[in-house]
Amino acid sequence: MSLFDQINTSSNSNEAAMNEKHLPVIIAEKISDGKHKIKVDAGGGKHPNEMDHWFQWIELRIDDLYIGRIEFSAKIMDPVAEFVVNCKTPCNISALARCNKHGLWLSSIEYNG
Ligand SMILES: [Fe+2]
Repeated sequence: MSLFDQINTSSNSNEAAMNEKHLPVIIAEKISDGKHKIKVDAGGGKHPNEMDHWFQWIELRIDDLYIGRIEFSAKIMDPVAEFVVNCKTPCNISALARCNKHGLWLSSIEYNG
């Protein structure tokens, strides 16, 4: 199965090196009552960022509700997105990132805020 045939996750992609370079890293923190900052780093800084190989975008969902998408230009932008959201906790936060060469990569966390 090609990486482009599925949404790749830590459980269905068994190539550790590919996972390490591609899975979004999600960090969430409470700013104030009901307001939270969510940082997503596609590949955790380990992925190439070149004109022919880069992360094109990151999408954020909370409890499966689409929150937003940040698109990136190759090389000039690091694939890191910060969202400030008003949400209830606990919740599930998921981030989907697309590498132009290796497809879609999904991570999620349970957040208690
Ligand atoms: Fe890649």
